[in-house]
Amino acid sequence: MKILVVYHSQTGNTERMAQAIGKGAEEAGGSVIVSPVDDVSPDILKTAQAVILGSPCYFGNICWKMKKLIDETVDLMGEFKNKIGGYFVSSGTKKDGEKTMYFLERALAIHQMRIVPGILSVGATSEGILEECKRYGARIAQMEL
Ligand SMILES: Cc1cc2nc3c(=O)[nH]c(=O)nc-3n(C[C@H](O)[C@H](O)[C@H](O)COP(=O)(O)O)c2cc1C
Repeated sequence: MKILVVYHSQTGNTERMAQAIGKGAEEAGGSVIVSPVDDVSPDILKTAQAVILGSPCYFGNICWKMKKLIDETVDLMGEFKNKIGGYFVSSGTKKDGEKTMYFLERALAIHQMRIVPGILSVGATSEGILEECKRYGARIAQMEL
């Protein structure tokens, strides 16, 4: 399965989650690209069979770079239907992190993707969360298309 993990990260927490998800997916047989959001266009997103989006929580919401990419997919309505959609968030607090998770999930739902409930990491990314991320990536890589 062709899997694209797209993330933004300023201080490394979300990036560590992205790399762990990518590693888990690759070890489970997926063909994986892990990429900063700056390097991804809607047309690249379209080529993946599973798209996994990761954002830090900024002011109770996803970061603007991820929002920009998502907004740019508006012309691709229908292209993602029934593809697999995953998401993950790093935040300072659980409350704001959960809100941020909702925004990512909502975007995938509007694209009618098959959503795999995502992972929230609060504070510095722990080894436990990274293990969870690896399992998450593996789970997605093993899903039926
Ligand atoms: C501009 C900015 C705004 C933030 N706003 C929030 C917030 O509203 N709620 C929260 O829980 N954490 C907030 N944080 C904390 C980050 O979500 C947290 O440090 C996260 O782990 C950063 O991810 P990164 O290491 O991948 O950059 C904010 C951080 C920054 C830099």
